[in-house]
Amino acid sequence: MRTLFIAANWKMNPPPDGAFAARSPYRPRTDLDIVIFPTFLDMKTSVAGGLRTGGQCGYPEQTGAHTGDISMAMLKNIGCTHVLCGHSERRSQHGESNEDVAAQVKAASDAGLLPVACVGETLEQRQDGQEETIVRAQVRALPLDRDLIIAYEPVWAISGGDPKKQAITADDAQKMHAFIRSLLPRSATTRIIYGGSMKPPNARDLLEQPDIDGGLVGGASLNPQAFGEIVKIAAAIGKRH
Ligand code: PGA
Repeated sequence: MRTLFIAANWKMNPPPDGAFAARSPYRPRTDLDIVIFPTFLDMKTSVAGGLRTGGQCGYPEQTGAHTGDISMAMLKNIGCTHVLCGHSERRSQHGESNEDVAAQVKAASDAGLLPVACVGETLEQRQDGQEETIVRAQVRALPLDRDLIIAYEPVWAISGGDPKKQAITADDAQKMHAFIRSLLPRSATTRIIYGGSMKPPNARDLLEQPDIDGGLVGGASLNPQAFGEIVKIAAAIGKRH
């Protein structure tokens, strides 16, 4: 049984208005896993406000000379339950390699966090027909013996705040998710979620695909109404048998 997982990746943005209010769509539910990824500065408020909270990144070492970094254990101690590893913006803006991402996933799971490892090809790689080769290498580099969630995010579909950006088609997403599942030793139970311009008009088509177990929502997660609609759509679809 795979419970659908809907995540709000707020990136470097303040929490949306009312995010911590009693009836906010960001609150945990029993039928779905809802997890919020705020900035480090908003994490304490998010945890204290009762939201399931994750780090947008974490450093694999425990302590030491790593200016500007936060360890996985520190995220756990503050009350986080999850952490993103190797988001494409971390890979492209901070030079994180497949090996770095693997080390993050290991450290996260050692610290008792559930890692959400992000993979996905660039536009150029897809145009060259290299998407499966790239994603295979990214997935195979991960410590797949650990409990983890995989987020497939085609880099070219990530909105970057542009609401006009289009997601991949549901058929193409399903194809890649099935491919990723074929690489996993625990293929029946590992959740593979989709990220990249998921929003209310395309969420149903994407989430109904048999190998898409949720969404990593960026831009639309900053709008409580849009995020709430995605949550409702996921709840109507229910768990994956
Ligand atoms: P997006 O972001 O929904 O704005 O495309 C997704 C992500 O980068 O995690």
